[in-house]
Amino acid sequence: MSLSFQKGRALVTGGAGLIGSHVVDLLQAEGWSVRVLDNLEPQTHRDGKPPWLESAVQKGAQFLEGDMRDRDVVQAALDGIDVVFHQAAYGGYMPEISKYVAVNSFGTAQLLEIIRERKLGVRKVVVASSQVVYPEGAGECPQHGLVFPGLRPVEQLRRGDFSVRCPICQSPTKSVPTAESAPLGGETVYAITKLDQEKLVLTWGRQVGIPTVALRYSCTFGPRQSIFNPYTGVIAIFCTRLLNNLPPVIYEDGEQTRDFSFVADVAQANLLAATSDKLDGKAVNVGSNRAVTIKRVAEQISAALGIPLAPIMNGDFRPGEMRHLISDTTLIRSAGYQPAVSLEEGIDRYLAWIKTQGSIREYFAAAESILRQKGILQRVEPSR
Ligand SMILES: NC(=O)c1ccc[n+]([C@@H]2O[C@H](COP(=O)([O-])OP(=O)(O)OC[C@H]3O[C@@H](n4cnc5c(N)ncnc54)[C@H](O)[C@@H]3O)[C@@H](O)[C@H]2O)c1
Ligand SMILES: [Zn+2]
Repeated sequence: MSLSFQKGRALVTGGAGLIGSHVVDLLQAEGWSVRVLDNLEPQTHRDGKPPWLESAVQKGAQFLEGDMRDRDVVQAALDGIDVVFHQAAYGGYMPEISKYVAVNSFGTAQLLEIIRERKLGVRKVVVASSQVVYPEGAGECPQHGLVFPGLRPVEQLRRGDFSVRCPICQSPTKSVPTAESAPLGGETVYAITKLDQEKLVLTWGRQVGIPTVALRYSCTFGPRQSIFNPYTGVIAIFCTRLLNNLPPVIYEDGEQTRDFSFVADVAQANLLAATSDKLDGKAVNVGSNRAVTIKRVAEQISAALGIPLAPIMNGDFRPGEMRHLISDTTLIRSAGYQPAVSLEEGIDRYLAWIKTQGSIREYFAAAESILRQKGILQRVEPSR
C-alpha cells in the first residue's frame, strides 16, 4: 500500500532551475517546507544565484549549494525529507559523456543508495525524466496501423529526406501521440542518462517498497528558462536570437513537430505525482497532447516580439534527433492532470519575463560552430 499525503518536507534537487524553481514555488504555496539542493551550474546560471531562489529562501526555503555527485552533500540534503523531487540534471549536445553520466545516472544512483543505506524516512521519490527516452514518436502506417519507427538513418537525413518510415514496409508514416508503452531508445548520451534515471528510480522503488514516479516531460518552457544556456529549449533560443536581431536557426525543414508544456503545468504534474497514488511505480508522460511545428513556433515568437526576421533553414540536422514527438497524456489526465496554459499564452508570459531581464546576449552562434566542428550538427549533402 502506498502512502499518499498532501504536504510535508520536500527536497527539490535542481530547485534553482526552470522546472525545479516552479516546483519550489508551488510547494511553498501549498504549505510544504522546502529544501533546495543545486550547484548553480554555470552553463545555466551564468550570473550565480538567481533572484527567484532568493525569494524562495525569504519565504522559508533552505538552500544547500552543492553537487549531486558529492555524497556528503546529498546525505545532508536528505535529512528529514518526506518527498524528493529530483530535477537536477546536466544536459545538452556536447560530447561531455562522463559528466552527463556522473551527474544524472551516478547522482541518482547515489541518492537512492543513501536513502536505503541510512534507512531514511523518505516516503516518495519523483524523478524528472524526458520524452527523449523515445527514439521517435509513434506513427500510423497506411498498411500496418500503429507502428514504432526507430531513429531515422543518418544517410537518409544527409539526402535531405526527413520523413519517418514504417519499420515494416518503409512507407512514410503519420505522426500520432506516443503512449508510455512505446519502445524506449536512448539515442544520445543525455537520453541514455534519462533512461537510467527513470529505471533506477522505479526499480529501486519496487525493491525497497517506496512509491516512485518518473515524469517524462515534453519540451518545457516558461519564465526563468536560462537565457544563457545555448542547449536550453528552442523557445528560449529563438527569443534570444530575435532579441539580438538575429534570425532563428531551424534544423531540418521546420516541419518537425513537438509537444510543449508550460512550466507551471509541469510543476502541477509534480505535485500530483507526490500527492496521488495513482501514478506510483510508473513512468508517466507529461505533455499537452498537441503537435506544433518548429517553424510555427519561430513564426509565433517573431510575431509576438514584432521582429519579423525569417528563420535560417539551410538543411542542418542533428543525427539522433526525433522528427515528431507528441505525448499521449491519457494516463496522467486520468489521475487528474489538466494543463492550464496554452502555447500562445505561455509564449506571451515568457516574453513578458524575458523583457525584464536586462540586456540579452546570444550564446547560440558560438555553441553551434562547436557542434558543427564536432560533427554533432551536420548538413544535407546535395546530390551530385
Ligand atoms: N526543460 C525541458 O524541456 C525538459 C524536458 C524534459 C526533461 N527535463 C528534465 O527536467 C529537469 C529540470 O530541467 P530544467 O529544464 O529545469 O533545467 P535547468 O537547467 O533549468 O535546471 C536544472 C538545475 O539543476 C542544477 N544542476 C545541474 N547539475 C547539477 C549538479 N551536478 N548538482 C546539483 N544541481 C545541478 C542546475 O544548476 C539547474 O539549476 C532535468 O532533469 C531535465 O533533464 C527538462
Ligand atoms: Zn507499413
